[in-house]
Amino acid sequence: MSDLSLTILPETADDALAIERLHERTFGPGRYARTAYRIREGIGHRLDLSFTARIGTLLVGSVQLSPVLIGETTALLLGPLTVEPPFRDRGIGQALIERALAEAKAKGHRLVVLVGDEPYYAKAGFKRILKDRATMPGPVDPERLLVAELVPGAFDGVSGRVRPDHKPR
Ligand SMILES: CC(C)(COP(=O)(O)OP(=O)(O)OC[C@H]1O[C@@H](n2cnc3c(N)ncnc32)[C@H](O)[C@@H]1OP(=O)(O)O)[C@@H](O)C(=O)NCCC(=O)NCCS
Repeated sequence: MSDLSLTILPETADDALAIERLHERTFGPGRYARTAYRIREGIGHRLDLSFTARIGTLLVGSVQLSPVLIGETTALLLGPLTVEPPFRDRGIGQALIERALAEAKAKGHRLVVLVGDEPYYAKAGFKRILKDRATMPGPVDPERLLVAELVPGAFDGVSGRVRPDHKPR
């Protein structure tokens, strides 16, 4: 019998093709026009803060984090988060988010932003960003711009444009 338990592993360079195919299947070619995608493409994600979910050796999910600034404050942008359709509703998406947030916190990061559905991400501690407090360089439904504080109060006094952070940290 093969081991069919779920494992969450840091992403490696070898995962790139399988993740790209997962994104293509999930989001289609329209993904390139998404505002969050446009921020990420300028910087690339952090492999050490991005994770894959595997059942046995099969890659069934992925979450990626990228370095951004909100105004002048460093943060991470979470996404895409994707789980293969046959493996959804088993907690894999939440497990990927929890692992990525725990690793980010352990590495000293304080804030994570994303564009997504608040009812889903609220389970992992994300809250809606109040209107105009943070802006994206493209069209985003303000109700879908969310933030999680990895350290209590980390979002206090933070505001501004969400943009790529090109400085290595
Ligand atoms: C969103 C996604 C990652 C969730 O993965 P998953 O492994 O099925 O999630 P979980 O098993 O952790 O959670 C499932 C629960 O979340 C709910 N849920 C899933 N997507 C949701 C959404 N967009 N809004 C609200 N609830 C949602 C499910 O109904 C389920 O609820 P239940 O626990 O009451 O049955 C997956 O559906 C997916 O890949 N979707 C397409 C890509 C996408 O939209 N990604 C997010 C934006 S980047």
